[in-house]
Formats: sequence, C-alpha cells, structure tokens
Amino acid sequence: MRLSVNIDHFATLREARLSNEPEPILAALLAEQAGAEGIVCHIRGDRRHIKERDLQMLRQAIKTKLNIEMAATEEMKNIALEINPDVVSLVPEREEELTTEGGLDVISNERHLGPHIKELQKAGIKVSIFVDPDLKQINACSRAGVNLIEINTGKYADLKPGEERQKALEEIKKAALHGHKLGLEIHAGHGLDYKNIFPVVEIPEITEFSIGFSIIARSAIVGIDMAVREMVNLIG
Ligand code: PXP
Repeated sequence: MRLSVNIDHFATLREARLSNEPEPILAALLAEQAGAEGIVCHIRGDRRHIKERDLQMLRQAIKTKLNIEMAATEEMKNIALEINPDVVSLVPEREEELTTEGGLDVISNERHLGPHIKELQKAGIKVSIFVDPDLKQINACSRAGVNLIEINTGKYADLKPGEERQKALEEIKKAALHGHKLGLEIHAGHGLDYKNIFPVVEIPEITEFSIGFSIIARSAIVGIDMAVREMVNLIG
C-alpha cells in the first residue's frame, strides 16, 4: 500500500500571513524522501492555499507522482492541461466549505463528466474521481470512463469507534470490492489519521491512501520527515 501526502496546508500556513513561507514544494520534497510515493494538492477556485505557482514548482521538482485535486470546470481543465500532472482527481467544491465535504455526484453529472475526463485522458493524464462509498456512484464512475477512484473515508473518519463507525467501514469495504470487480484501481482518503487508519489498511483492494491534515498537523510537532515515516510504517 502506498501513501500520497496532501501538502495543501503548508500553503494554508503560508497564506495565513500572506507570506512566502513555508513553501509547499520543500515539504513535498521532504515527504518524498521520507517514503511518500505521491504528492497531492488541491487547487481551489478561490486559491485559498495552493496557487498556480505551486503547481509549476511541484511539476518541475517532484520525482514521484503529482496528483492535483480540482473541480470539473473549464478553468481547472485548462490548468491541468498546462501543468500536465500525473493524475487529476475530480472533486466537488463549495466555496463555503472548510474542506471537501463529500464525493462527487457522478450520476447527476455524467453527461458533463464523460467528455471532460476524455479530454484530460487524451493529454496523457490519469483521471480519478473522489466518490462516496456508494455502489451506484461507483458504477457511474466506471461508465464515465475513469480507471481509478478514490473512496471518500470522511464519514468513517468523523465517527467515534462503535457501531456506526463499523457500519461506515463496511460500506467502504463493499465499495472497494465493488470497484475492484469493475476493474477500477482503488484509492481512499479524507480524514484518515494515525489511529483510524488501522482497519482501513486491512482492506486489500485499496492500493493507495491520500492523507493530508493529520500528517501536516503532526509535522508541526515532530517534523515532516518523522510524520511521513510514521504514517508510511503504519500503512506498510
Ligand atoms: N482526498 C481528497 C479528495 C481530499 O479533498 C482531501 C482533502 O483535501 C484528502 C483526500 C485528504 O484529506 P485529509 O486532509 O483529511 O487527510
């Protein structure tokens, strides 16, 4: 199982003071050295953290895999075509949200998503859809033409250990198996941390985790190298 590190919140810290540090690119390089097999960032419509300049530097410098999360808009598609990341992850986006709040509603947007995905793929970019653990939505991802999905673990991660959380975990397991049977590569992420990752790591169909906040929060205390190594060890 691989770890991709989402470095958005290094940029959040920088923007808190409209400063020029910390540079997310430095964190990305250190995360790679510590064992991350991919770097993820989210360019939002409001540019609240990651900006085009970050994408350009990341594209040039990182040696693993650059995965850019973005909304399925014309503006974002043009950015993707210019930067040429290894992966584009399509996510829903609302300006008022603190973080991505759920998976993309692929069923309602199927007509728009099909051609959008095709254009990115034609440019050699692998496309992923961030999707809730909902079998119908996962079927729609397959119809929309992606080979990769990221299952939203947010609902599971928000719950305390107990029956409800177990149910949410079972939904993730079923969704992973279902997606795998459809021939999709399965990644997972959102809200995962050094404790709640344990049962999710046991799901054999999941090949990669995308984790940001918990690693960055821990890196404020122990440094990015240690924070990434600890998570790599838990996942491995
Ligand atoms: N996956 C997606 C699609 C996301 O939008 C985010 C948050 O930017 C993550 C994973 C990482 O979530 P967290 O920061 O809670 O680890």
